Amino acid sequence: MCGIVGYIGDKQAAPFLLDGMSKLEYRGYDSAGIAVLEEDGHICVDKCVGHLDALRKKLEGNMPKGTAGIGHTRWATHGRPSDRNAHPHTNTSGKFVVVHNGIIENYLTLKEELMGKGYTFVSETDTEVVAQLMADLYDGSFESTVKKVLKRIKGSYSLVFMCEYDSDKLICTKKDNPLIIGLGEDENFIASDIPAIISCTRRTYVMSDGEIGTVCRDKVWVEDIDGTPITKKVFEVKWNAEAVEKGGFEHFMLKEIYEQPKSIRDTMTGRMDAEEKKINFPELKWTAEEIAGINKIFIVACGTAYHAGIVGKYYLEQLAHIPVEVDIASEFRYRAPLVDGSSLTIVISQSGETSDTMAALREARRLGSRTLAVTNVVGSSIARDADQVLYTYAGPEIAVASTKAYTTQILAMLMLAIYAGRLRGTMDRDREIVLAEGLLEIPEQVHQMLENVDQIKIFARRYGSSEDVFFIGRSLDYAVALEGALKLKEISYIHAEAYAAGELKHGTLALIVEGVPVIVLATQEDVYDKTVSNMQEVKAREAVVIAIGFEGDASLAKYADHVIYIPSTGKYLAPLLAVLPLQLLSYYAALTRGCDVDKPRNLAKSVTVE
Ligand code: AGP
Repeated sequence: MCGIVGYIGDKQAAPFLLDGMSKLEYRGYDSAGIAVLEEDGHICVDKCVGHLDALRKKLEGNMPKGTAGIGHTRWATHGRPSDRNAHPHTNTSGKFVVVHNGIIENYLTLKEELMGKGYTFVSETDTEVVAQLMADLYDGSFESTVKKVLKRIKGSYSLVFMCEYDSDKLICTKKDNPLIIGLGEDENFIASDIPAIISCTRRTYVMSDGEIGTVCRDKVWVEDIDGTPITKKVFEVKWNAEAVEKGGFEHFMLKEIYEQPKSIRDTMTGRMDAEEKKINFPELKWTAEEIAGINKIFIVACGTAYHAGIVGKYYLEQLAHIPVEVDIASEFRYRAPLVDGSSLTIVISQSGETSDTMAALREARRLGSRTLAVTNVVGSSIARDADQVLYTYAGPEIAVASTKAYTTQILAMLMLAIYAGRLRGTMDRDREIVLAEGLLEIPEQVHQMLENVDQIKIFARRYGSSEDVFFIGRSLDYAVALEGALKLKEISYIHAEAYAAGELKHGTLALIVEGVPVIVLATQEDVYDKTVSNMQEVKAREAVVIAIGFEGDASLAKYADHVIYIPSTGKYLAPLLAVLPLQLLSYYAALTRGCDVDKPRNLAKSVTVE
């Protein structure tokens, strides 16, 4: 997610813009820039790749002078981090300037249309298309031109516009991304997030989708795209500055758990045709023949990403009928894997900088494999080294414990399996429609689940003092159990172990004694009865059984001490929902034990050492 700031008033804009952007640094970014309306009426744009310090250095001694401006910290989605791809973006003449947070889904179509009219582009971004579209649609009125642009673009966005022809105002709007207007005395502010303006004002308008705000020095008005005025209620910000960085959540981990409806929706954007119920990957340059020619897939990753890879194995084998091996990256490179030119190696990495995964990627390339990176950071080392990249759009993940990255990774793997299945003729149209319909419901189902977590808080308090906890399941439930155990271990320091439910009796059952919590995932219908017998197996040893199953499954309560119900969905979609209670359980257990949730001992967010 990018950071946006805007200022118009009686003071110099640049210092506010830079300070506001520094307050958004926690969101993670790879480049920054500002645009300021100078006294001569020209909008001056300064931007560069890197952190704010690089921009400050660039502005040393030649800070733009002016009392209106916009600023942006970029978290790259389209186009790698570079000076040219940094925001603000302008049209060719520089008369129209825009900053943007989000994804313009139809930017390629618009870009082709504009290029057909002779427009040229200097960046790889979707945002520059918006600036050129402003120039193309300009009808003498800044406001009406913005409305015309909004009628042409599709996707998710927070946008702030400046225009040299009408320079005593900033215009802002949003869809599916946050945006607020800060109300001052003879000055007003715009920001993507409260931290940027909280030191200047606590009185805000929280913008809603489709609202267009026109912000002048001494007045602000809001209307809809038809020009109908909208009366906004002033929202007084009560948070302290530190809480504000976390969006009001106590920890980044909880904030990121709650961002999952949006991160899942964003990762589907541009790949899921909701009308056709069809999945495509415009960014993947594969022909059907190339996909058909893949004899084997190797999935290589570490930690949570490795667990996402295990889920991916089930998807790719069952939906695309491609044999898959999943390896821990640090093992892959030393086991002389039988990788060759007919293999595809998929490396999964949230940060795109994990050293073990990078080394495995290089080993796979050395052996002649085609490579695909699934990563959350545009232009990361792994993204640059792989032949092709499939980005998750989870936004910056700050907490060491990976949550929203995991769900967007397994979403990406499921969509990839469906896509590959269609190209290989192993996925019939009806099945794709059913899966697509199920996927489209997931963001709202996740949202509903996150609305009611009281039962999970109770379990976390009740069992948070346990020294050993087991997670068991079969098939995809086992794959999710692995992730649940890692979450609990890494932030609550409880010794947790995931085990294939059918394997318990071959040894580990010796550890199941009275009072040991055993979390049983029971969402996979084809192995449900077997899973129930495993529940009885551990219950017979006086374990405390917490089952996770679908709403409406009345039988689970007969075998479990407690049941956490999740919305009913298809077996392939179940991991996207079943992992949520496990993420929350680990979070609240860590709180119960007074652990440092966002920065657990001994761990780093990105492991760039081997
Ligand atoms: C997960 O919660 C951990 N933070 C860790 O296992 C992480 O998933 C692993 O280090 C891989 O990181 P990556 O996805 O950035 O490559």
